[in-house]
Amino acid sequence: MSRGGEAAGWWEDAVVYEVYPRSYQDSDGDGIGDLRGVESRLPYLEWLGVDAIWLAPIYPSPLADYGYDVADHAAVAPEYGSLSDLDALIAAAHERGIRVLLDLVASHTSIAHPWFREHPDRYVWAEGPEPPNNWIASFGGSAWSRDPRTGRLYLHSFFPEQPDLDWGNPEVRRAMGDVVRFWIARGVDGFRIDAVDRLAKDPEMRSEPAANVPFALPLHPEAMALDPIYSRNAAEIAVALATLREAAGDAPLIGEVYLPATMLGPYLEHLDAVFAFDLLHSEWAPEALGRAVDRSREAGAVAWVTSNHDFSRVATRWGEANARAAAVLLLTLGGTAFVYQGEEIGMADGPGTDPPLDRYDRDRFRHPMQWAADPRGGFTEGEPWLPLTDPEGRDAASQRADPGSTLHLFRALIRMRRELDGKPERVPAADGVLAFRRGRHLVAINTTGAEQPIPGAGEPLLASAAGVSELAGTARMLAPHAAVVLRAS
Ligand code: GLC
Repeated sequence: MSRGGEAAGWWEDAVVYEVYPRSYQDSDGDGIGDLRGVESRLPYLEWLGVDAIWLAPIYPSPLADYGYDVADHAAVAPEYGSLSDLDALIAAAHERGIRVLLDLVASHTSIAHPWFREHPDRYVWAEGPEPPNNWIASFGGSAWSRDPRTGRLYLHSFFPEQPDLDWGNPEVRRAMGDVVRFWIARGVDGFRIDAVDRLAKDPEMRSEPAANVPFALPLHPEAMALDPIYSRNAAEIAVALATLREAAGDAPLIGEVYLPATMLGPYLEHLDAVFAFDLLHSEWAPEALGRAVDRSREAGAVAWVTSNHDFSRVATRWGEANARAAAVLLLTLGGTAFVYQGEEIGMADGPGTDPPLDRYDRDRFRHPMQWAADPRGGFTEGEPWLPLTDPEGRDAASQRADPGSTLHLFRALIRMRRELDGKPERVPAADGVLAFRRGRHLVAINTTGAEQPIPGAGEPLLASAAGVSELAGTARMLAPHAAVVLRAS
C-alpha cells in the first residue's frame, strides 16, 4: 500500500513500458518517432500485456538534453505531432486498457523557455564575480553559468541550457501545479517526475565537502569527488512534492530520485513510487542484487527498473547471456516494474553516432526500436535520426514468430507475474544463485556460466532458457545463465 495505507492503486503491480518517442515509431518519414507512430504500436503493446506507457518528454524543446530541456510544458513538439495527436493516443490507449504517464520535468526548464526572460525570479541566481559554491552539474563542470544578457550567474543542475527553477517561489509552484492539472484534464493518468532530488537545494548554498566514500550511485567523475549533501535532497523538496500531489489528486506520481535506496523513504510520503536505482546499478551477482532488492524494499514502494534512456542497456551492462534471466528478475519482484522499449527483444547498446548528439554520450542507449529485420528496422521510411543497429533476429517481428524468443519470455512473464503474491523473501542458495520466494512460488536465477542446483522443488512454470511448454517434470538444475519460476506442489 502506498502513501500511508491508502487503497491500492492500479500502478502498484503494474508493468509500465517506457517509450522514448523519438526512437519508437516514425509515422511520417522524417526519421523521427512521433505520437501517431506510438499509437500505431498500441496493438503490439496490448499483445505484450503492459498496463501503462510512460512517454519520455514530448514537449517543444531545443534538444540540448533531448527533450529534458522543456520550452513549453503544455504543448507537443511539432516533430512528435500535435495536442490532438496526443488526445488520440490517450483515447486509443485507454480503449485497450493501457494507461498513459507523461514525464514531468519540474526541476528546470530550457533556457529558451519564455519564463527565463519574462519571469527571471522563477530561477536561482547569484551575484558576484565567482560562483557562490563548488556545486558540479550532473554532466560535469560548474553548476553555475553566467547569463550573458544580465551578467548574473544562474544555477543549473544539468546542462547550462537547463536553468534550475526556484521552487521556493510560489509562482513556480502555482505554474507547475497548473501544468499537472492541464494534462490530467486531457486524460493523462499520471506522471514520472524527473530529477526529483534536485527540486530544492541547501537554502544557504553551502559548498559540498570532499567525499570520504564514493556516492553509492554512479555520478560524473567530477561530482564523485564531492559529497553531494547540499546540491540536492533538501528538506524543502517536500513542499514542491506536496504541491504536485495536490494538483495530481490520485493520479500516480513516480519519482526519479537519483539517490541510494536508504535515502528514498521521505520521498514516499508524497510520491506513489520511486525508482530503485540500486538495482539498476548493481553488479550481476547474487549478493549484490539481493542486497539492492532488500534495501530498496525497505525504502517502501519502489518501482523496479533495469534500463532506461540514461543508462547502458541490460544486454550490454549485465551481458547478453544474462539478459533473459534479468527479465525474470525484473518481472518477478512484485510491485511496479518499468520496461524500457527494446528490452523485450534484448536490444543492446548501439555505437551511438559520430559526432554524438547527446553531449553526455547517451545516444548509445537510444537507438530506434528494431521492429523488423530490415535496414530501417520498420522504424521509419526515411533516414532515421539515429541508426538502427541490431543484428538479425533482434527485431520484434522475427521474435513474435518465435515462441522461444526473448519477446515471448517477456510476454509470458507479464502474464505469469499476476499469479505471484507476497513480498520477495530471499532463500539460501548455491553460490552464484539468487533465489527468493513469492508466496508458494520460488524464483531462482543463475548468475553464472555453470550449471547450478535449484534451491527447492516444484512444478516449473516458466524458465528463461526455453518456452514454458518445453519444461517438464521437476527441475533440479539451472542451466548456465538461466532463471526459473517454480510453484511448490
Ligand atoms: C533525468 C532524465 C535525463 C535528463 C535529466 C535532466 O535524469 O532521465 O535524461 O538528462 O533528468 O532532465
